[in-house]
Amino acid sequence: MFSTRLPSSLVPSPLAAAVAARRARPGRIVDLTLSNPTAAGLAYPETLATAWSNVDALRYVPDPRGSGAAREAVAAWHASVGDAVSADRLILTASTSEAYSHLFKLLCNPGDGVLVPCPSYPLFEHLAHLDAVVVDRYTFRDAGRWELDERDLRDRITPRTRAIVLVAPNNPTGSVPSPDEWAAIAAVCREHDLALIVDEVFSAYPLAAGVDHVRIPDLPGVLTFRLNGLSKLVGLPQAKLGWIAVDGPDDLTRGALDALELIADTYLSVSTPVQVAAPTLLAEGAAVRAAIAARLRANLAQVVARVAGTAIDARLPDGGWSVVLRVPCVGGPDDVALAMLAQDVIVHPGYFYDLPHDGYLVLSLLTPEADMRVGLDVLCALPLLQPA
Ligand SMILES: Cc1ncc(COP(=O)(O)O)c(C=O)c1O
Repeated sequence: MFSTRLPSSLVPSPLAAAVAARRARPGRIVDLTLSNPTAAGLAYPETLATAWSNVDALRYVPDPRGSGAAREAVAAWHASVGDAVSADRLILTASTSEAYSHLFKLLCNPGDGVLVPCPSYPLFEHLAHLDAVVVDRYTFRDAGRWELDERDLRDRITPRTRAIVLVAPNNPTGSVPSPDEWAAIAAVCREHDLALIVDEVFSAYPLAAGVDHVRIPDLPGVLTFRLNGLSKLVGLPQAKLGWIAVDGPDDLTRGALDALELIADTYLSVSTPVQVAAPTLLAEGAAVRAAIAARLRANLAQVVARVAGTAIDARLPDGGWSVVLRVPCVGGPDDVALAMLAQDVIVHPGYFYDLPHDGYLVLSLLTPEADMRVGLDVLCALPLLQPA
């Protein structure tokens, strides 16, 4: 009855079922998978709420690319971080996820392929499948830092590959490619006529010392789509505003913008209220961003200090909202997560993000600091851990 774009089974995994059962019971849970900033105990300025009560939202004047004022506000935010993006090269979307869907429609026929990074966030596979696009993964190897395996990237290209997706900082590793790696990826795109989709939703959350923002270098000759949105930038996933910044050779860029306008016009999914509120949300949201950034840094410091001298190794992220831990342990892939769940702590095993099955965990750095402390204590005392 239903299409093969959907997974063959919607039955939750045994770990997901165990987590759901625990969540259904009363009692305190320490959730080290928390990704919803509005549930993280952060203060949100009231101006973010009053931004929605504007009578301009009562007039419907649809512009498929997004209203000029909202696109100017997004361009102004980019300029504020030293990134010149013209408002007429922006397309607004209802979320970054929708931006992916627009791009898959723009670039791929059914059965065409995109390459996504491994490890990375599981969302891309679902998004691609729903647009009848085939996903293959290219590898970033754990070598202390996450190194691009250029050979692997090249080997995975087929005549049907249309685009490379890159997430910088990546979710969950927090890694950002080195200048040489950016150059190698750009070279592959030029050689094979591939578009590059750069997901920069975590660019405003650098964690490496001395970095104020994660910027992508110039990638001449490559049709590039950069994605961002209010979800992460100002901690408002419910606002439902994302965008695509298009860059590259002039003729391709113009063609892509015209085609994206047609796709966006077909749905007109970005609400008027969020477009009217966007200038205020982007300006006032700086306070939320600062609070999130402080939380991430405090938690990362806590993780590094707590695992020092144990068998656990933290893979230091360049940015983003999570940290990957190498956790040498005995047992199967879910055993650490289940043992922690038995003590009311929820964690993601690494395989959830396509990390190798043996011994990786992913912790959200968005977790309230007191919860992180409890969770780390439980983790470090697990009998499953191999000795340091
Ligand atoms: C790397 C990355 N891209 C995109 C998204 C989706 O963002 P949005 O809420 O704008 O759809 C997420 C969500 O966590 C993400 O981690």
